[in-house]
Amino acid sequence: MKIEVLLTPGEQAGLRNRDLSGTTCVVFDVLRATSTMLEGFANGAEAIVPVCEIEEAVKLGEANPDWLLAGERDGVRITKELTGSADFNLGNSPREFCPEVVKGKTIVMTTTNGTRALKACEGADRILVGAFLNLDALIAGLVESEAQHVLLVCAGTGEDCASEDVLCAGAVVEGLAERSPSAAVSDSALVARACYRDGRSEAAEEPRIAHGTNGRRLEGVPGLAPDVAFCSQTSVMNVNAGMDAEGIVRRVNFG
Ligand code: MLT
Repeated sequence: MKIEVLLTPGEQAGLRNRDLSGTTCVVFDVLRATSTMLEGFANGAEAIVPVCEIEEAVKLGEANPDWLLAGERDGVRITKELTGSADFNLGNSPREFCPEVVKGKTIVMTTTNGTRALKACEGADRILVGAFLNLDALIAGLVESEAQHVLLVCAGTGEDCASEDVLCAGAVVEGLAERSPSAAVSDSALVARACYRDGRSEAAEEPRIAHGTNGRRLEGVPGLAPDVAFCSQTSVMNVNAGMDAEGIVRRVNFG
């Protein structure tokens, strides 16, 4: 197994020129897009359709009136002021993706970095959704599927690295390298693992995702601060999700 990490969103453009056949990509947007998607699937969502632009989401919503629209710009739910027509049903908070709202639903979702990072991985053999919430299930799934080249993609914040994504990617590197001691761990994966180990030694219980730009920003927004603690929860669900060749994210069962 070969393990590599894209630490910053700027590196995602390079994926267009790479042959991703034989590669399993895992996208991390811990605060909050991938955590929110996983919570949606844990609560019975049928499918999530990630798109980059608000206009695409609105068009899909108009064509499929029973679908929900979800997402954020500047962290907050998208409203008429941005779309010119529809208010989105949901923002990008995992606490909104509760069973009463998402069970059995298809949800179109657009977020600043998370949905873009997923789309950037198109062409890979497998594209998975990663977060602390499903950490153990994700590592087990990667081992079970005998992934040969694992590319961990940190969605980031705007054009910058997001420390919580690197921490989570580092936790996966740690888990995979423990199970496959002969794995080829790239320098970028060593960097992510070092961040994770460093964070763990400082706070034994929970990963320190509140300390980065995203964590601090969310903690300052009334109503969104609890998302940080929510997304810090580690291995609390046995759920995996992946994006298929049609660009639709669904629950995935390995084995
Ligand atoms: C994103 O996709 O950029 C994030 O999930 C932003 C957010 O926390 O809403």
